[in-house]
Amino acid sequence: MQGKLIFGLMSLMLLGCKESDNQKKEVQEMQQSYTEQFRPQYHFSPSEKWMNDPNGLVYNEGIYHLFYQYYPDDIVWGPMHWGHATSTDMVHWSHKPIALYPDENGLIFSGSAVVDKNNTSGFAKNGETPLVAIFTYHSMEGEKAGRTDFQTQGIAYSLDNGDTWEKYEGNPVIGNSGIKDFRDPKVFWHEPSQSWILTLVAGDHAKLYASKNLKEWTHLSDFGKDQGAHGGVWECPDLFPLQVEGSSEEKWVLLISINPGAPNGGSGTQYFVGDFDGTKFVSDQQEPQWLDYGTDNYAGVTYNNTPNGDRIFIGWMSNWDYARDTPTEKWRSAMTLPRQLKLIKQGEDYVVANAPLHQVDDLATNVVVENTEVAPEKTQTFTLDGLQQSRIKLSTMAKDFRMIFSNEAGDELILEMDAKSQTLIVDRSNSGMVDFQKEFGNKKHVAPIAVLRDDPLDMEIYLDQSSVEVFLNGGLVAMTDQIFPNEPYTILQLENRNDEEKITIMAIEHMASIW
Ligand code: FRU
Repeated sequence: MQGKLIFGLMSLMLLGCKESDNQKKEVQEMQQSYTEQFRPQYHFSPSEKWMNDPNGLVYNEGIYHLFYQYYPDDIVWGPMHWGHATSTDMVHWSHKPIALYPDENGLIFSGSAVVDKNNTSGFAKNGETPLVAIFTYHSMEGEKAGRTDFQTQGIAYSLDNGDTWEKYEGNPVIGNSGIKDFRDPKVFWHEPSQSWILTLVAGDHAKLYASKNLKEWTHLSDFGKDQGAHGGVWECPDLFPLQVEGSSEEKWVLLISINPGAPNGGSGTQYFVGDFDGTKFVSDQQEPQWLDYGTDNYAGVTYNNTPNGDRIFIGWMSNWDYARDTPTEKWRSAMTLPRQLKLIKQGEDYVVANAPLHQVDDLATNVVVENTEVAPEKTQTFTLDGLQQSRIKLSTMAKDFRMIFSNEAGDELILEMDAKSQTLIVDRSNSGMVDFQKEFGNKKHVAPIAVLRDDPLDMEIYLDQSSVEVFLNGGLVAMTDQIFPNEPYTILQLENRNDEEKITIMAIEHMASIW
């Protein structure tokens, strides 16, 4: 319903803007057909063609922008553009025309966007507030010629809150001295030093820069050569402060995506907790911590300029191991649900929790099962038509059960809390279509759950047409995995393996479509 409303509003808005009639029609058509097999119903996916990383996440004047790595001509990766969608609630999205096209400097790789409130860039001439995008240029010619300096950083600006974009004529703003992987700038305004701070990655470490005007950048420091996971190249950094829950203590968090080298294979996101003094990020953490133990949450970054300072994160719900092979035909891949990041202190340790934004609750329109108990050592089976598009909330004292989602076609997705090994396990090896690539279904995904300590378990599961997201105790543990069932799951079997504690299913709710 709201999706339709937004669609109507968007059409109205489009009437007044500069795009050609054809573009208008295209955008409207994109909004309409979201009924194909595997089409996510409450996650963002492009109307058609290839998408990867979220880019330029920024809030301005009532609008959340979502730009993304986009190839408009095929459903495999190709010359990168920035696709664009907007939302007023982070749940319903309107497609917008492509924001940034490749140019003579190269393809438009990942990056960020800021609201330049003080017009430090000087891009505004008539009192407008510029949005400035900072991204990586990737020169295909340079790469093909065997050079190592083919990635540089460029900027573009919009004076109409993201509708139209101009590239800066002085691009690139950060050149390359011969570092092959040199990309994914994330910028934020640092009030104490009255500077813009930019973090990018250079192969096996992050580099920090500062600027007063977004055009001239000074290198400040490096982080991470000898810290954390190094099984693959570092990508998509994001540095931001977070206040410890229930305290006034503030720490800085650095997210680093890595590919390959994630705990369950392929692409994943590690983080470091430490301090930033305006020049250097330091963390005494040696071992990586992982934001999500599923294999389908990559290249995620957070919003700049959110209304009340919330740290809102969106990740790309895929993995470079098989992203190009998943069995969709019209489009490829979706984003995770928007999630709020929170910093939790446990003894001397810090944990970054991530759980869906409360706005997602508005989609839980219809409670199908409520307050149902499964006694110790008992199994209960639920047959529910809308299971494939649902949220399941349960709680228990014991972390000792299995949930099997299945259909008449014999597909089975198994979620298991294993008390013995103290792990959460997602087994999608027989979950539906899995043979399109060898890594996809060949092993169980395992997450350690020591961070839950002896607390009772609260579990939330979000099932959509081609994904499952599992959150334990407010996102202290998260698992995100794609699935491609041959037909929707309609049966849920819950096996309580504990001989003393019951499991309470607080609710199984239908999730409304956002399209
Ligand atoms: C991460 C990434 C980025 C790069 C972009 C290219 O998935 O490899 O490092 O900017 O994708 O599309």
